[in-house]
Amino acid sequence: MEIIIQPGAGDASELAARIIQREVEGDPQSVLGLATGRTMEPVYARLAHWCRQGELDFSRCRTFNLDEYVGLPGRHENSYRYFMNERLFRHVNIDWKQTHLPDGVASDLEAECARYEQLIRKTGGVDLQLLGIGLSGHIGFNEPLSAFGSRTRVVALAPETLKQNAPLFAEPQQMPRQAITMGLGTILDSRRCVLLATGAAKAGIVAATVEGAVTGMVPASVLQWHPDCVIVLDEAAASGLRKTEYYQWMYKSEPKWDWLRQFAALREQPSRPVVPSQLRMEPAA
Ligand code: GLP
Repeated sequence: MEIIIQPGAGDASELAARIIQREVEGDPQSVLGLATGRTMEPVYARLAHWCRQGELDFSRCRTFNLDEYVGLPGRHENSYRYFMNERLFRHVNIDWKQTHLPDGVASDLEAECARYEQLIRKTGGVDLQLLGIGLSGHIGFNEPLSAFGSRTRVVALAPETLKQNAPLFAEPQQMPRQAITMGLGTILDSRRCVLLATGAAKAGIVAATVEGAVTGMVPASVLQWHPDCVIVLDEAAASGLRKTEYYQWMYKSEPKWDWLRQFAALREQPSRPVVPSQLRMEPAA
């Protein structure tokens, strides 16, 4: 596990977006695992912007989202299909047929979960999985006590998750109580993963994930077992961590992040003050 801490939420989301951009540049046929939630909105806005500028090409990518609410069709504005269409897919040059989410209104939900797992496998597995984190410690919708080997399945949502996400619904009491989610085992199978968390509200759960024990009570802590996982945080989300200096040191010393630090450095460069001697003076008439 590696930890990258950036000053603000905008900086952290830009770095996460850069990691995705680089993945797609390196392999235009990448299989991307995508996430939803408010934290992801600025990430997708950046990707869409770079795509419009011609700096990013999604035309050959395939995507698999982590989860979907049970009972919400894709046209429902709280469904994750709708979120992805609106926040990312319709702004980039991706082939929509290659964008996958579990179908929350499938007549046979169990068969739908098995189909989703098989499709991920048939596509060759997820190359880069993007993750957010819920206040319950969930990744995808794997709530506390999820099995580490779990696969895509129907789950009940934790009370904390209902509290966190219900305000996003026009009628909060209509938020579904169940969802289909990739399992922790499915997520652990991804080749690389990036978890992005921003804001002080996430500080406690981030600390438990990174510095606590690996436990089913904090599902995201299983990422400590992932062979290639980076956690990107803003200072607020990192404020509960005890070893931030160590994480900063490791990030700054790690050659594989040279390219990423260069982007961050460009952003930090203060705009050069204009010194009067540099001004071209018109000769006095
Ligand atoms: C939902 C998703 C999670 C996501 C979480 C974070 O619950 N199922 O995958 O990590 O939201 O949400 P937010 O970014 O809004 O805090």
